[in-house]
Amino acid sequence: MEKSYDKISLKTAAARILGEVKEFKTASLLTPVFMILEVICEMIIPLLMSVIIDKGVSAGNLNAIYETGLFMIITAVCGLAAGMLGGKMGAKAAAGLAKNLRAAMFRRIQRYSFENIDKYSTAGLVTRLTTDVTNVQNAYMMLLRMFMRAPSSIIVAMIMAFVISPKLASIYLIAVIVLSAFMGMIMMRATRYFTATFEKYDALNESVQENVNAIRVVKAFVREDYEKDKFKKATENIYRMFIKAEKTVVLNMPVMMAAVYSCILLISWLGAHMIVVEELTTGQLMSLLAYCMNILMSLMMVAMVVVMVSMSQASAKRITEVIDEEPVLKQKENPEKNVADGRVAFEHVDFMYAGQSGAPVLNDINIEIKAGETIGIIGGTGSSKSTLVNLISRLYDASKGAVKVGGIDVRDYEIHSLRDAVAVVLQKNELFSGSILDNLRWGNENATEEECRKACEIACADEFISRMPDGYNTHIEQGGNNVSGGQKQRLCIARALLKKPKILILDDSTSAVDTATDLKIRTGFSEELPDMTKIIIAQRISSVQSADRIIVMDNGRIDGFDTHENLLKNNTIYRDVYESQNSGNGDFDEKGGE
Ligand SMILES: Nc1ncnc2c1ncn2[C@@H]1O[C@H](COP(=O)(O)OP(=O)(O)OP(=O)(O)O)[C@@H](O)[C@H]1O
Ligand SMILES: [Mg+2]
Repeated sequence: MEKSYDKISLKTAAARILGEVKEFKTASLLTPVFMILEVICEMIIPLLMSVIIDKGVSAGNLNAIYETGLFMIITAVCGLAAGMLGGKMGAKAAAGLAKNLRAAMFRRIQRYSFENIDKYSTAGLVTRLTTDVTNVQNAYMMLLRMFMRAPSSIIVAMIMAFVISPKLASIYLIAVIVLSAFMGMIMMRATRYFTATFEKYDALNESVQENVNAIRVVKAFVREDYEKDKFKKATENIYRMFIKAEKTVVLNMPVMMAAVYSCILLISWLGAHMIVVEELTTGQLMSLLAYCMNILMSLMMVAMVVVMVSMSQASAKRITEVIDEEPVLKQKENPEKNVADGRVAFEHVDFMYAGQSGAPVLNDINIEIKAGETIGIIGGTGSSKSTLVNLISRLYDASKGAVKVGGIDVRDYEIHSLRDAVAVVLQKNELFSGSILDNLRWGNENATEEECRKACEIACADEFISRMPDGYNTHIEQGGNNVSGGQKQRLCIARALLKKPKILILDDSTSAVDTATDLKIRTGFSEELPDMTKIIIAQRISSVQSADRIIVMDNGRIDGFDTHENLLKNNTIYRDVYESQNSGNGDFDEKGGE
């Protein structure tokens, strides 16, 4: 399946990722330097070894052995220190890069508009922030530590070997070429499997996220078995892919060892002949064997780095996609900061969701709402009520026509000022973990406790808060799980009121509140906040019938916009619903909603 991030070129992804190294550049540059120091020390040791054997052991010179031995210890300690420092710097640089990448993604996601968010699943974003970043982090660390070390180790060891004996060193050259070809083949296969595995992580995360998020629904519908099955499939898929990939990778070791031992055998056999005819010393043969191990091990490292880096390619692209996603809502230069009043006007507005085909969700909407008016909106499920009000606070931009607030196009406002003036209680509202006061102050962080109490009074939330053991300091669980649906709705209304908005939009926000309290809230609005424009979406006619005017939505169009009395006289849909709700407590969709 074609993925949206496939369009991103590797070059763009690499540039974007490396652009986030920032303050960890020094560590990133020091890592290969230390690694090369380690290589140099490692290469000197076999050389010293041959000196000990030839000048010390064979010649019976104990002093030479002590001197060279001391030198060897110093070199070994230096190499060890360089290796450790290189490892530490590499880890620091990679962890720092991961931190910066996560921060960059998170910052960008905060700027996303609703349209941007529609494009990603929550699970997808979580995978990108976690697994993908870890992938890139590991690959970056390997790259820093090995991309200079391994090749330079191969080259230096090769040169040393050639200096000692060109004849024997050519064996390495052949081994390296043959082995490279083998490993290349193995690694190409493994990379394919690994890449496929990481794509499967999305499915796993989706399953985990959905299930854990909605665990109550899962239980209520006794869907545990189905969910378990789904989860099992996702994990087993990953398991199988990993096994396949690892099965391929383990081939590396035997191939590698076969090459190492063949080389050792060949060199020992040929070397022995050469020692006999005095073309080579014993010490030189020893160092040649050490270089052999070095060269082939480094080759293996190169292969591993190649796998890790190619594995992280998809991750890098997926991260880049999030960072590069342009927030759809643009703020114009020198935007208007002041919303004059609560007037709202729709002028020939059409709206379609991104990627949607067919008829627009909103079709030629023309309405004018005066400041301070109370407007009810009623209409069947999917008739675009939510879509209509979402355009007012510019959660989405109209596809055609203009939406005006306070006489000015919403696109001309600073988004922040507009959203402060237009408070929306979304249909899918959320509370966050923290005390009730913390939650209320989402609306206005500087609100005093007195203001919070006042807002709760209007939203009829005070009565249940005062009954709670810790009152306003009661802790709300994540997602508001420890308050009832109706209590949550009232807290969300209070939170919106604290913004002191010019326009308040309630999207089905009293659906879980009993009728008497619902009435009390509306009475509170008209008594306490007469200048605020109130737009109330509801399923019950009783919730809107006292409004100044009522919009009847039908299939993305406005079917009627008038007072309750006039609509009863002139609007069939409205009359049908009114009668059905009054006769048998039916709700909107039982009749007339079509
Ligand atoms: N984020 C979205 N992306 C694509 N299509 C959407 C999105 N949200 C809503 N729609 C579609 O737009 C149409 C109108 O949806 P909307 O949520 O405005 O209806 P509604 O009148 O608020 O319904 P309800 O009474 O159930 O809340 C529906 O057909 C829905 O499928
Ligand atoms: Mg809705």
